[in-house]
Amino acid sequence: MEHAGLEPQELDAVVFYERPMLKFDRILTCALRAFPRSWRAFPKAMKNSLGEKVWMRGIISSHLGVPGNKILFTEHHQSHAAAAFLTAPTHRAAILTTDGVGEWATLTVGHGERRVNGATTIDLTREIRFPHSLGMLYATFTAFLGFAVNDGEYKVMGLASYGRPTMVDQVRRLIHPTPDGAFTLDLDYFEFQTTVERSYSSRFVDLFGPPRNPYEPIDLETAEGRRYADCAASVQRVLEDTLVDMTRALHRETELPDLCLGGGVALNGVANARILRESGFDRVFVPSAPGDAGCALGCALYADRIHFGNPDREIPDHPFWGPSVDGDELARLAREDGQLMNELEDGDLIEETAADLEAGRVVGWMDGAMEFGPRALGHRSILAAPHSVEMRDRLNRDIKYREEFRPFAPVVPIEVAGRYFDLPPGGARLARFMSGVFPVRPEWRSRLAAVTHVDGTARVQVLERDMAPRLHALLQAYGRRSGIPVLLNTSFNVAGEPIVNRAVEGYLTFRRCGIDVLVAGQTRLVKRASQQQKEKEKAKEEVA
Ligand SMILES: [Fe+2]
Repeated sequence: MEHAGLEPQELDAVVFYERPMLKFDRILTCALRAFPRSWRAFPKAMKNSLGEKVWMRGIISSHLGVPGNKILFTEHHQSHAAAAFLTAPTHRAAILTTDGVGEWATLTVGHGERRVNGATTIDLTREIRFPHSLGMLYATFTAFLGFAVNDGEYKVMGLASYGRPTMVDQVRRLIHPTPDGAFTLDLDYFEFQTTVERSYSSRFVDLFGPPRNPYEPIDLETAEGRRYADCAASVQRVLEDTLVDMTRALHRETELPDLCLGGGVALNGVANARILRESGFDRVFVPSAPGDAGCALGCALYADRIHFGNPDREIPDHPFWGPSVDGDELARLAREDGQLMNELEDGDLIEETAADLEAGRVVGWMDGAMEFGPRALGHRSILAAPHSVEMRDRLNRDIKYREEFRPFAPVVPIEVAGRYFDLPPGGARLARFMSGVFPVRPEWRSRLAAVTHVDGTARVQVLERDMAPRLHALLQAYGRRSGIPVLLNTSFNVAGEPIVNRAVEGYLTFRRCGIDVLVAGQTRLVKRASQQQKEKEKAKEEVA
């Protein structure tokens, strides 16, 4: 509202991304069905979010000052589907959404159509219901492997490439295909449907061995460590196979060339790349925020196009929906703090920054409006030279403080992407918002060591000039100097913190971690040598 200069009473509607009563119904039903085992889950759920959600209309109404009759609700998977389909540059597409759970649905399939001068439709024709859920299957392994559910799933995917899928047969005991093309979970192996204490049952532990202690690092040199990696590889394989089977069937049924994917499971870039290669669809679209955050955009679009029946409009094909960064604010902060700072024209700024990167400096890069979604797509990024393992280790050690099996991602201009990465047809599109994992071409792996995962792949962002012109120019300038127009691109934050948004957040992060140069708008800041020394000493002390 601030951005648009609107007051609450000017809103046509406020849309909430799921139907609270249906969710309440699901939780109540499951609690009763599992009685008495579930008695612990129910009061907890009530206390956490349920009470709030049931009263959502009143809460929104009183907080925003919008009358209750203007508050609308979409179903959760309608929101996912709308976020995926209505933001994609296509007018007809098959749709598949999959996550942990919404109200009841955990996976839906259907199709959408945007008619010029006509109605927009999204028909979700079939759904799989809780507790049968691909998201919950993956989340159960996430918990078993000692990572945080709803947050650590990407770590399971990263760990998977260190393992071999030796336990696929065991995982297949947990999930059974049904004759109609869906699947069921064997609930004897799970407890998430009855308790919040633990998501897997003792039969699960009989099958896969003891769970990992989250506080102990994974050592891949030991048999234990390899078992965890093999577990991850096995569930990853089964997830991929299931999605490939379902999207193949959806392609046969719809005979459409385009597929839109939504829901948190669509963050699995390895699975997405296999869907693109194997399902028969020519193009696969994943929005920049396929998870629940993107439902905000999805439900608003759903209400506009379908509830109100407004005519279709193109949605700009970029992820930059956030607040803009103010370079002058950074200049002011730096001046007050006595930092080395200059304000440059774009041409000079880009050349200087390319020179910094070539000299091995780590650059905090803030440009324009912030990206929406979990991936840094070039407006709030930490950039660095992608060539050496030392750079990867330095970033992990000095900035990201994170596990060594987590790879960094590269960004490359679309014009030369195929030289460095093995992209199938449609691959560049999937890589627009970093939604696919693709092989680095073998001849470039040693020169792209900081961004090549142990299995030779990378979660590459393929950049079109129009989407982020300054980053595109920087890549080209870097390419002229180094011979390789590829940069390491990771989200601009330190471990455990959200991505920086405003200039002051970028500045504070720059001051207390191993970033050498900070750019926001036309302002460029270089860390003083004395401060770099201080940081190193501090790091040493902390180690000691
Ligand atoms: Fe969801």
